[in-house]
Amino acid sequence: MATKPSRGAFIVIEGLDRSGKSTQAATLLERLQSRNIPVKFHKFPDRVTPIGQMIDSYLRSKSDLDDHVIHLLFSANRWELAATVEQTLNSGTHIVCDRYAFSGIAFTASKPSQIPFEWCRTPDISLPAPDLILYLDISPNKAKERGGYGEERYEQEEMQTRVREVYRRMREETMAVGSNRESENRPQWVEIDAGRSVEDVGKEIWIHVEPFVQPSGISKPIGRLWM
Ligand code: TMP
Ligand code: MG
Repeated sequence: MATKPSRGAFIVIEGLDRSGKSTQAATLLERLQSRNIPVKFHKFPDRVTPIGQMIDSYLRSKSDLDDHVIHLLFSANRWELAATVEQTLNSGTHIVCDRYAFSGIAFTASKPSQIPFEWCRTPDISLPAPDLILYLDISPNKAKERGGYGEERYEQEEMQTRVREVYRRMREETMAVGSNRESENRPQWVEIDAGRSVEDVGKEIWIHVEPFVQPSGISKPIGRLWM
């Protein structure tokens, strides 16, 4: 049995639709579980809760909502789970999370309604911050070739191109030197070329994840987003 770390690591996987996040999250989960490393999986949107059901209906174009309203629902859907996330991490269990607040900003800020970036960020301020963000980078053109593309709202090349730009901006801001936050308390943002084989992407992900899931655990406290 692996010993329990002081607290678990919060690992978020981000990327465009069809960048392979769900596949890679499953692979990573298996890797951790096969090593008896305690881990829990979350996915946002969590379509099961009442708020999640509204989001699901919107994404499948079964209902329409004002862009601000859907943005706030996505954020509320994270806040619903925030206390659970903290408890899980504090109990020494790692979390692998398919999408988080970065998706929230990237997608809303990419809409034709041009909602300001700062407005998009506000509702997620002070959510538990991830320790590691694995950003699976793929060209919208390549993503389009993958199965199932276009089934849901936002799965259009033009939109995804803008989303990729916003992700780039967030990456730069997260990694920027001279930010007022302590560098050691800043989440680590890693960009991974997701245009390669599932195996190659999985291997690279593991190289980045391994240092975060050592038995010694993570000693720094859980961070807060954008604080
Ligand atoms: P999924 O394909 O990972 O289930 O995500 C559904 C869509 O919702 C995807 O196009 C990204 C988008 N999204 C937002 O617009 N805001 C958010 O906060 C999240 C988590 C996802
Ligand atoms: Mg999708």
